Parts: sequence; C-alpha cells; structure tokens
Amino acid sequence: MCGIIGYIGNKPANEIIFEGLTRLEYRGYDSAGIAVLDDGKIHVKKDIGKLHQLKDLLLTNFGSTSSQGIGHTRWATHGRPSGFNAHPHGDSRGTLMVAHNGIIENYMKLKNRLVQAGFIFSSQTDSEVLAHLIAYHYHNNLEEAVLAALKEVEGAYAIAVIHRNHPDRLVCARKESPLILGLSKDENFIASDVTAILQHTRNVIYLDNYEMATVKREGVEVYDFSGSRIEKKIKQVDWNPIAAEKGGFPHFMLKEIFEQPQVIRNTIGGRTSEEEGKIYLTELGLSGPDIFKTQRIVIIGCGTAFYAGCVGKYLIEKLVRIPVECDLASEFRYRDPLVDSNTLVVAISQSGETADTLAAVREARKKGAKVLGVVNAKESSLTRDVDGLVYIHAGPEIGVASTKAYIAMLTALTLLALLLGKIRGVLTPEFVTDQIRELKRLPQEIEKILAEPDQIKALAKKFMNAKNFLFLGRGINFPTAMEGALKLKEISYIHAEAYAAGEMKHGPIALIDKDMPVFVVATNSATYEKLISNIQEVNARSGTVIALCSEGDKEIYDHAHQMITVPNVSEILSPIINVIPLQLYAYYVADLKGLNVDQPRNLAKSVTVE
Ligand code: AGP
Repeated sequence: MCGIIGYIGNKPANEIIFEGLTRLEYRGYDSAGIAVLDDGKIHVKKDIGKLHQLKDLLLTNFGSTSSQGIGHTRWATHGRPSGFNAHPHGDSRGTLMVAHNGIIENYMKLKNRLVQAGFIFSSQTDSEVLAHLIAYHYHNNLEEAVLAALKEVEGAYAIAVIHRNHPDRLVCARKESPLILGLSKDENFIASDVTAILQHTRNVIYLDNYEMATVKREGVEVYDFSGSRIEKKIKQVDWNPIAAEKGGFPHFMLKEIFEQPQVIRNTIGGRTSEEEGKIYLTELGLSGPDIFKTQRIVIIGCGTAFYAGCVGKYLIEKLVRIPVECDLASEFRYRDPLVDSNTLVVAISQSGETADTLAAVREARKKGAKVLGVVNAKESSLTRDVDGLVYIHAGPEIGVASTKAYIAMLTALTLLALLLGKIRGVLTPEFVTDQIRELKRLPQEIEKILAEPDQIKALAKKFMNAKNFLFLGRGINFPTAMEGALKLKEISYIHAEAYAAGEMKHGPIALIDKDMPVFVVATNSATYEKLISNIQEVNARSGTVIALCSEGDKEIYDHAHQMITVPNVSEILSPIINVIPLQLYAYYVADLKGLNVDQPRNLAKSVTVE
C-alpha cells in the first residue's frame, strides 16, 4: 500500500518527510517522491527505487530548504513502477501537487474529459487525475477545489495537496484509505499511519471517511464534505514504533487478517462496471481469439496459491464451462505436462518468486501454452515471464502464513471467471451485475466476523492441545478445508489434514476418535445434506465436530458440537468468507501456544529455491 506524509512547520520539509517515509517502508513500495513549496514555486523530486537509493535525489541534492511539503511511497496499481508514475503528481502548469493512496475507480472517464478540456497528462496512473481535477476546479480557494474534485471521484483515496498560492497550508482528505493528522507546536503533520510521525508527536486526529482538513503551522481545521467545520477528538498514541508498524496489532498476521475487507475493495478497485455488467482486467494480455481458442485451463501454484487455484477451478468450470485442471507447480514442472497452444496456464503466486512456479511457467511456455500470472508483487520475476497479468492488489503481506493474499487471489479469480464467462457468451450482463454486487457486499460481511472474534478465540483455547485435526469440505469448499488445515499446521505445528468430506469413509474415518476434532465446512451449498451425513458419521465414532455454518442454519445444531456461523453468501463466493474463521482459529491457537506467528519455524515467506 502507498504511504503519504505531509509536513508544515519550521524545519526542512524534505528531511522530515524523507524520515517519515522510511517509517512507512514496511508497507511495501517501488518508488518514492517529495514535493515542497518554496517562495511560490513547487520543487518535486521522485523516482523508482527504494529510499536508500533515492537519498541523493531526495536529501543531498534536493535544492530547497522549504518547511512545507508532501511525500509518497508508491505500491503500483495502475501503471508500472517508474519515475513518471511515482507520486506526487502535479497539474501541467505546476500550480499544485497531490500524493494519493487508494484507487480512483472512474479515473478513465474523468481523464478522458480532462484531456478533451486540454489537460496534459504525464503518467499512466489513476492518481494524476486528481491533480488535474483539483486544478480544473480551482478558483483561489484550495479547500473548495479539493471538495469539488472529490465529489466527482468514485473509489478509495487518502490525499495530501500543496498549492503554490497557499504557502500557509496543506489540505488533505480521505475516503476508505486511512489518513491521520499529527499535532505539535508550530508544526503539524499528515500521515498514512502513526508510524511515520511518532518521533515528533503522539497527539493525533484520525480522519474518518468524507472528512477533509486544512493543516497550518498554527493548527488544523477539519471539515465534512459539505464544507462544515467539525470538531475531532485529539487522541494520545501509546504504541511503541514497532507496534505502530503493526497498526497496534500484536502480529502482522492478525493485522493482515483484519485488512481483508479493504483488500477485497482494492482487488475489485476500478475493474467493474455494475450497471453495464462488465469486468475490466486491463493487463490480461489475452485477445478475444486467444480466449475463444482456449480449450482447457491449467492452474498452477504452491501452498496457499495452489489452494486458491483449486477454488479457481470450480469458479471457472462453473462460470466459463471449459475444463480446468489444477496442479502443484512442483509436480507440473516434472511430469512432461500435456499442454499446447490451446491451453491457458494460470500461474498464481503472491511473491512472484516461487522457484517451482517460475519453473512450471517456463515449462508451459516451452510447450506453447499462453500463461496468465495472478500475482501480488509488482515487477516480480513471474510478471516478466507471462503473457498477461491479473494483479491481486493485496498490498505487502508480511506474515509468512498467507491470509489477505489468499482472499485477494480468490477475488481476482472471481473477476477473471466472470470476464472469461462473459466473453465466451456463457454469462449474461445481468448475471455479471449480480455477481459484482454480491462481491462488493463481501467486505461488510467479513467485517461482521472480524467484529466478533471471541467465539473463535474460545474454540482455539478449547482445542489448542489437540494433537491432530481433520478438516472436511465438499465442492468449492474442499479447497477451503485444505487452506484451513495449512494455516493450522504451518503456524501452530499441529498435524492437520484436509479431506473431501465424501472421501472420509474410504479410510480417514479410521482416525476418528474423541481426541480428533473435525472442522466441517458446512455452509449453505448444494451438498449441504451430504455434509450433515458426514457429520453424523463422525459423531457415530465419538468424534468432535466443529461446523462452519451459515447464519440461520438451525438443522446443524442437532448434529455439530460447536458451531461457527458466517453470513450467508452465494456458494461460489463462499470460500472468500468461509476461510476467515479458519485463519483466525489457526492464529489464536498459535498465539495461545506462544509460538512465533509471523515467522513460523522452518518457513520462508517466499520459497525461491527448489
Ligand atoms: C502459505 O501460508 C505459505 N506461506 C506458502 O504455502 C505459500 O503460499 C507458498 O509458498 C506460495 O507462495 P507464493 O504465493 O508467493 O508463490
């Protein structure tokens, strides 16, 4: 995710801002920049690279000791990492600069209008639209221009603005993307999170959605989007800097679990048009003929990415109606796979650096297949080895156990399946509109689960000493069971395995006894009654069943010993919501056992070797 810093005070702004940006590096970025206002002139320096590589540009040879400016670290979404895509972005007459975190969903429509009005763009980013739009609305009042511009914008944003006519202020605003104000004597700050300013002040104001602020040396004023002044509480931050990087969470993994509603919004970003029933994947790299020529799809990945691919198999077969095979990259690469120019290979990887996946992609391309990468890390090796891309926009995932990247993969695969199904004429615009609407509803449904983690924490406490665990699921939720088992084993070191629920009677049922708790993913589905039968089979052998079930399900209470309820969503989208309690369960067990949740033993975040 991008990082924003603003400063207005009595010290060299570029030094304060640079130091603050280094505190936001954990958020991940590929480029950075700083803009300052000095005697009616804006100085801006920005480029691709890490801050330690940009020291000369942003510090030594900055060329201004101005005490007012904004800075930004960019995690690329629209437009590849580059100097001209780096923030801050200005209007073509150099009157103002904007730093932005978030996604402008309707930027193409706005950009077309501004270009026709004669505005000259210099980047591929959605963010640059904001600079020109504010300039378009500017009539000697910066706050009014910012409000007028934001009222035209759809999407998520946190922005900071400087204007050459206003040496006494910064202006900022937010919707969905976080933004805080740091308050001190004769100097004030804007930041994406408290980490960046803790060494200067612990007095902060947390802006809420649809709030704007004028930040001056002598103080700050906060407004709502009608322009009315509002009073905000000044909060005292008591975190230590390390805790602040985790946003106050004890571990990155828990922070990332709680980020997931926002991650889904970011993955969807500006890629859907609900009213038209359309999906836009601008870097897909596949032509219509490529898509029509595709006779089968092979999805490859490792670990969590493989399980996401297994969900993708169900999604694509259901929505696109062509055969899909899902294979472990480490198996695919050595089995002389039967793929050719009529095969589309979809390679899934959070890091884009997993050795087995990279090797499998090379094998597929050698055999003539088109390869599509579903990737999180921009500019990673995988992104350079594929014919097309679907970035998942999960932001940097620090915890070794993947959570938000998995959710982002599922969301991206859903968008891909809807797009392919539409192009191949299997899906109507009305159906796609319904699915887009349902997908956009998921963040708020997940927030309901995250709001009440205690029932899951209690279960973790009850079963934390179990030596073995079985996870059962059917259909599109069989991969959910597999991912749940992986989470538990990789951070709590408890042996956990997943089985297709229908397969249990062919052997694993011999394992069942009172010491073997069994998670059953039994939310609403076409095979719900079969899952009830599986639960009864476990009960008949003195097993203990923890059922994941849908809100309103009464029948399950007659069969399972413990229930975790999740909000009702459609079966094809249920893996996205069903995995959340399983992530939390694994996290709480590992934390209760006092284990290193973020860096489990023997594991690496990216397995770049065979
Ligand atoms: C998942 O929690 C693990 N960290 C691991 O299985 C991971 O998913 C796998 O190594 C693949 O990584 P990638 O997505 O970066 O390719």
